[in-house]
Amino acid sequence: MEKTFLMVKPDGVQRQLIGEVVSRFERKGFQLVGAKLMSIPRELAEQHYGEHKERPFFGELVDFITSGPVFAMVWQGENVISTARGMMGSTNPKDAAPGTIRGDFGLTVGKNVIHGSDSPESAEREISLFFNEEEVVAYDKLI
Ligand code: CMP
Repeated sequence: MEKTFLMVKPDGVQRQLIGEVVSRFERKGFQLVGAKLMSIPRELAEQHYGEHKERPFFGELVDFITSGPVFAMVWQGENVISTARGMMGSTNPKDAAPGTIRGDFGLTVGKNVIHGSDSPESAEREISLFFNEEEVVAYDKLI
């Protein structure tokens, strides 16, 4: 079953949006198979955002994601990677449609509430950066 890595960023945790975010993906029909509230060590943040290393905002990005606890998650379901991206909305909340997470709750491109893997390759990479194999459960869907 397809899996993706989703993370409520420090702004979302501080604004008490974990439940709102989890609820949206649960109601959609996806299954939560891994989750932890954690502070991201700087080295992990730099690895996670490695593809943005040359961008002018890289330092700011790492400072922000390490500034407070995040809620890291693994979700599974059919087409969960692209569907979750759609439910998150555009990276910049000013362009995100109402009804999406960033459209409803975000204001700036840096503090945009949630991160989600953008491809099967990044999903695999990000899940393994944040979770050990035994931290991701396996179970059959009952309904
Ligand atoms: P995310 O999906 O976590 O992946 C990379 C992040 O970089 C993105 O969300 C944005 O929050 C952030 N980002 C993109 N552009 C900028 C910018 N111009 N300034 C600060 N952060 C940015």
